[in-house]
Formats: sequence, C-alpha cells, structure tokens
Amino acid sequence: MSLLLRGRTTKSTWEMAKAEPVCPPETMDSEDMLFMLYTSGSTGKPKGIVHTQAGYLLYASLTHKYVFDYKQGDVFGCVADIGWITGHSYVVYGPLCNGATTVLFESTPTYPDPGRYWETVERLRINQFYGAPTAIRLLLKYGDEWVKKYDRSSLKLLGSVGEPINHEAWEWFYNVVGEGRCDLVDTWWQTETGGICISPRPSESDGEIIPAMAMRPFFGIRPTLLNENGKVIEGGDVSGALCIAQAWPGMARTIYGDHQRFVDAYFKTYPGYYFTGDGAYRSDEGHYQITGRMDDVINISGHRLGTAEIEDALDEHPDVPETAVIGFPHDIKGEAAFAFVVLKDGITLTEQAIKEDLKSIVATKIAKYAIPDHILMVKRLPKTRSGKIMRRVLRKIAGGNTEDLGDITTLEDPTIITEILEAYHKYKTEEAAK
Ligand code: WTA
Repeated sequence: MSLLLRGRTTKSTWEMAKAEPVCPPETMDSEDMLFMLYTSGSTGKPKGIVHTQAGYLLYASLTHKYVFDYKQGDVFGCVADIGWITGHSYVVYGPLCNGATTVLFESTPTYPDPGRYWETVERLRINQFYGAPTAIRLLLKYGDEWVKKYDRSSLKLLGSVGEPINHEAWEWFYNVVGEGRCDLVDTWWQTETGGICISPRPSESDGEIIPAMAMRPFFGIRPTLLNENGKVIEGGDVSGALCIAQAWPGMARTIYGDHQRFVDAYFKTYPGYYFTGDGAYRSDEGHYQITGRMDDVINISGHRLGTAEIEDALDEHPDVPETAVIGFPHDIKGEAAFAFVVLKDGITLTEQAIKEDLKSIVATKIAKYAIPDHILMVKRLPKTRSGKIMRRVLRKIAGGNTEDLGDITTLEDPTIITEILEAYHKYKTEEAAK
C-alpha cells in the first residue's frame, strides 16, 4: 500500500503529505452548543432544540450507564434512527462517552425478514437491546418463530422508548424476546430532556418489575404533577400534567434563534416548572406512568408530530382551504392521523385525485409516516361561536365513537355534526367494500 502511494505523484497525494497528521481538539465552553435537533410542538413550526456540551454529555453517559446497567465490555444495541434524539443519546453520545461498543442499525425491523433484529442480536452478541414499541407491536404479529430461530442468550436487558408500551407488547418483549429472564425498562424522556428522565432501574431495585410501569425518576429529576389551576397534586393514585420542578444537566438550553419561544413553550403554562406536554399517573407507591400528550401532538410509530404541522402541509393544496388533523388509537402505530378536509366549491379534480395529491404533499413536506390513514372530505368543520375547531368532537368521530359526542351546544351550527357523520358513515361503508 505504502509503495503504491509513493509511486503516485498525483496532486492529492502531495496535498495529503503537506497536511498535519494531528488535528488539535478545539476547546469548548461547557455551555457551547453541541447540536441542534428539530422537533414538533403544538404549532406548525418545528422547534430547533439546542443541547450544550457538558450537561448533555454528562446526562447521556450517566443515564446510559445506570438505566441500562452498562458494564465494560458490553455490546450496546440501540436500534433507533441516528437522526432522532434516541440515536444521538444512545447510539452515539452516551455509549461512546462510556467507551462502549455501540451498534449502528441501518435497516427496518422487517427487512429482509422479521427476524432481522434477533439475527443482529445473535451475530453481534448484543447485551442490551433498546427499541420502540411500534416495532415490537409489528413484530409480534409475525409470531414467535422469527425470534426463537436466533440465539438471544447474550441479552441481559431490554429497553423501550418513544411512546407508551401496551401490555401485550410488553409481555411479548419480556417473555418471548427476553425469555422472561431479562429486565425490561420502559424509559420516558423527550428531545428536550436530553436523556432518560423516568425509568425503572432494575439493577438497583430488588428485582421488582411491574409491566409497563414502575417508572422512577432518574437522579436529580423531580417529577411533579400539577392540576389545571397550576396547583401541585400530592399523594398517590393521582393524575395530572407532568412537570419537572428543578433543572437537570441534560435539559435543552433554548430554541435556536428564538429564546422567547423556548420560555413560552416550556415555562409559561406552569410558572416555576418545566412542562413536558405529557400527562402522567402516580401510583400509591410513587411510580409514574405516562398517559399521553396533553397538547395537539401525536405519536405515530414513535414519531412525534404536531397535528398543526400535518394541517399546514394539507392546506398547501390549492383546492383545500381548511383541515383538522386528529390522532386516533392504532394497533401497530400506537396512534395514526385522521384528516378532516374541507374542499373549495367548484373543484375540477375528483376527490380521489385530491386525496392522492394530499398524500404526496405530506410525504414530501414531512415524511411518509405522517400521511393520514384516513382523509374524510367534509363541507365544513365544527366550530365554536368564537371560531375554534371543536377538536374533542372530531376526536370521538376519528376514534369511531359516533354515538356519544358530548356537549355540542356551544357549536355555532350544530347541524354541521350531522353533515360530518353522514360523510363519515358513507366513507366507512366504501372502505369496508374495498
Ligand atoms: C412520548 C423521544 C410514554 C412522550 C425520546 C414524550 C413516551 C414524547 C415514552 C417525546 C414512554 C417518549 N412512554 N410516552 N416511555 N417515551 N414518550 O421528543 O409523549 O421524539 O413527550 O423523544 O414521546 O418524543 P421525542
């Protein structure tokens, strides 16, 4: 190799020879920006979340070590996309700070077949496997054989992240994948928190595991539940808005270019607290369970999306003046989007052609996973007298609950509901006939 290189006198070789073989590290301030990741909020414009050098790295490495019980020599397998916060904190920064061997998974759980994860576990002798409930729900439908085909004896711990894990998925992950002998940690956190904030830490507890529960705050995290009047809810067996009462090293420092938006989005609703946007339940034992978003953010296959973001994309269609996008429960994706779309009068395209246009706009502007599962064309949207879309009614319809729509007396024109229900039933009949 060296002979070959010496023999060549191309310009690039000379340039290489002139270059310094050592690149001195740059000295950074602990509060200098480390990276920025865009994420969805309840308004259409994504937020550029800024993490800094020292606090984030400390938090990513500590959580990696203690939540996953990482031991020197372990092979850590987080199968998240590297472009997501989970990929940042637990494929790159956390494991590498701890000198771990980390796995870069670049595929999908079903390519070339549904055994891909477990084949990877066997081949690389993975010790900790960290993934998303949506993939687990998808894989369990293919049956146990794809898992059992591979040797998983290297596994010590399993982890779940990104959305609530339902009981069926938890049991399958724990019993089939982990053969009932691996701890399973359901980890709650967000792009903004930098690392895991609430999770079981089985290595320190007495081995007690409560399926899909037993979530304890990580060191330095003070979860607090607040009611709608901004009062702290004490005690057990209670639910409220999940806030964090004290700063922690990994927390985001700002929204890039808009610090006021950062303050408004996270610290204004409950003054003195960081508001996560999630609701949570606390048991008598003090364990936390996440109940879901309290704002207009939905979670499709672990992807966090503002419904306003999808609406903005749909509204770009020249024949579409207005839309309302609502999340509804979905077996595999966790949640899926249902779009109520108002069309202009006198359109020349067919409804079907417009639907296809809308799908491709969403795929290009956001991503394929953001395409609504259902697009229902309606004449008008139900609005209150003050002009606000009554989302709770649409949420019921999207979830297939058309009988009891609750109080609709504050609607400007309640007959709109009859119109929407007619369109909905017609749509459902057509879908069933397909
Ligand atoms: C949701 C992903 C229930 C939650 C790391 C949060 C969860 C949002 C869990 C953040 C969990 C994340 N149980 N819900 N274990 N983990 N979430 O920013 O609604 O992509 O606010 O960060 O995902 O999504 P993000």
